[in-house]
Amino acid sequence: MSKFFFLSYLFVLSTPVFAQSIDQRVDDLLKKMTLDEKIGQLNQYNGDWEATGPVTKDVEDKMTAIRQGKVGSILNITGVAHTRAFQQAAMDSRLKIPLLFGQDVIHGYSITFPIPLAEAASWDLAAIQQSARVAATEAAAGGVHWTFAPMVDIARDPRWGRIMEGAGEDPYLGACIARARVKGFQGNGLGSLDAVMACAKHFAAYGAAIGGRDYNSVDMSLRTLWEIYLPPFKAALDAGAATFMNSFNDLNGTPATGNSYLLRDILKGQWHFSGFVVSDWGSVGEMIPHGYVSGKEQAAQVALTAGCDMDMESRCYTTSLSTLVQQGKVPVSLIDDAVKRILHKKFELGLFDDPYRFSNADREKATLNKAEHVRAARDMADKSIVLLKNEGHLLPLSTQLRSIALIGPLVHSKKEMKGFWSQDIGALNDVVTLYEGMQQQAGGAQLLYAKGCDITDTSRAGFAEALRVAQQADVVVMAMGERADMTGEAKSKADIHLPGVQEELIKAIQATGKPVVVLLMAGRPMVFNWTAEHIPAILYTWWLGNQAGNAMADVLFGKYNPSGRLPVSFPREIGQIPIYYNHLNTGRPAKDEKDVFYVSAYTDLYNSPRYAFGYGLSYTEFKYSNLALSRKSIHNNETITVTLDVKNTGKYTGEETVQLYLRDVVAQPLRPVKELKDFAKVKLAPGETKKISFTIDKSKLSFYNDKLELITQPGEFQLFIGSASDDIRLQDSFQLVE
Ligand code: NOJ
Repeated sequence: MSKFFFLSYLFVLSTPVFAQSIDQRVDDLLKKMTLDEKIGQLNQYNGDWEATGPVTKDVEDKMTAIRQGKVGSILNITGVAHTRAFQQAAMDSRLKIPLLFGQDVIHGYSITFPIPLAEAASWDLAAIQQSARVAATEAAAGGVHWTFAPMVDIARDPRWGRIMEGAGEDPYLGACIARARVKGFQGNGLGSLDAVMACAKHFAAYGAAIGGRDYNSVDMSLRTLWEIYLPPFKAALDAGAATFMNSFNDLNGTPATGNSYLLRDILKGQWHFSGFVVSDWGSVGEMIPHGYVSGKEQAAQVALTAGCDMDMESRCYTTSLSTLVQQGKVPVSLIDDAVKRILHKKFELGLFDDPYRFSNADREKATLNKAEHVRAARDMADKSIVLLKNEGHLLPLSTQLRSIALIGPLVHSKKEMKGFWSQDIGALNDVVTLYEGMQQQAGGAQLLYAKGCDITDTSRAGFAEALRVAQQADVVVMAMGERADMTGEAKSKADIHLPGVQEELIKAIQATGKPVVVLLMAGRPMVFNWTAEHIPAILYTWWLGNQAGNAMADVLFGKYNPSGRLPVSFPREIGQIPIYYNHLNTGRPAKDEKDVFYVSAYTDLYNSPRYAFGYGLSYTEFKYSNLALSRKSIHNNETITVTLDVKNTGKYTGEETVQLYLRDVVAQPLRPVKELKDFAKVKLAPGETKKISFTIDKSKLSFYNDKLELITQPGEFQLFIGSASDDIRLQDSFQLVE
């Protein structure tokens, strides 16, 4: 081989041939497109049969618009039959550019998994990735190309209904989970028949809505934005997230949809994001009520210029972009860039080679509700449950019980187990209730039942019956909580106490003297002080999805030893919100909970949460020992290896989540009292010890200064190893030297 050919050969080998050929195909196609066809690609319509916002009313027949090449994507249509019909219309268009079908596959498709916040409580990245994998496999088999997930918004405010959709309050845990979910959704890569495009949303800072009120403004320092709110987005991007969705809120006075700092400077600039950005539902047009633009035309101009590539359902792009180009207000090059990003993904998905490749009826039938998907949902649900209290080892329940009273409004509930953002695709009948789960595992014990009260209704008419039933039983298990529509989008609440007269019912049942276990089923942290103080055993079970009843029974009877840890602080009272563990110390920190003498404290309530970030019990106990640091001082480019032993000193096999926190003792600007920097979930048999090892490098010591530069500062770092953010078992310190 001549030198020239050899070098060319090497060049071909080392060039991403696939990517290059897609670029070429995109460019070729773009050259054939009229301006209207280009604008069509930027337009996403709702499929009509579901809406999460006001549907635009101009009655243009969607199929006609698709045939005219005026639509690039449709959301909210699923199933092989539906997607095929819509794709067929796209194939009737001049250039036959296939449609993208997007759907909110948030926690499962046909099989509903636990809500994302519940999954986050598992701290089990492999299981979370698997949950997304199953959802993607089913969704892709149902004709879906694109999920509007993961939601990676940090949330420090449980009044905000969408806290259920994310991974909680911590940027490190949030970033790990964002990565796991993107990998799960996109599997072996776009183009695989079991992969869907992920969408990291909502860019950005949506979780910091003032007062926890959905869609509200966000006002925060850019340092907080970079330090707390952006890391999960960056992690999603690094994991390969194909798309981003911007958020409804304004950030410091600029709506995120028209925010070029977020979209152009950060996402497409500094981060080199090559995928595309979709607006949130109608958010391009919502810049009008925001008061940021005067009408649809300006909305389209501002959004596209800022870097929002696709317009979800506001129709501002489709009605205005052509005029804006003619008026010279929007350069065609901007439109071309947006179109190319979208076409690229359509090519990557293989839709130009076969537009129906995700719409195969046999595959759909064979893939949905597989036994292995059900198993994964149960495994995830087991791992999502958090044991908050277990006085006197009331749990696990003995298998020798003669009778168990199941009391509460959620004992027989199927719908509420699915939670907000679940799909109607799988049969409701497939959801396992608490009652059904208990029936499977109660052995010889007789199950008694009384509803006792409703979720929100304040009638106490059922109390007497519930008391009668409780008195007949050896133990009472109470199923209390929220309806599935009480926490989710547009479901912010000013009062997050356990609703209705449920806590009164708990009090009444406790007064019978029977041992009581309370299961709390909700999408957000609730406030339930009386229960927390008086009930011996409490499990937070969130909304666990299809396998809810089986998972709750697994934990109640000890088939699964609970291992969940709170991904978010649970306040004692609403007045403490926002409450989060990684706060600053202030110049007047309280000495202890009782200290109120001119210190930063509430005079009528402790500062601490009811349950701290990272908290969760097990049926067994773990002892931590032998903390060792490979060195006590490091330079910036060096690492420290941290090792410790964890021993299971109890009677049951169990999983412990060992958490590593750091504190930069003196820094400018200030650093939090504690920051999660690593964790390890480890399974131990009774008596077993395992060595855990963590590595500390510069990335764990750096932070943003006021100029938004990522820096480190020399000095002392405290290192805490804990079982929760407020349960530190071992500690040491080291120096970072110049
Ligand atoms: C509005 C929500 O904010 C967003 O998360 C969702 O993906 C879209 N609606 C589409 O349903």
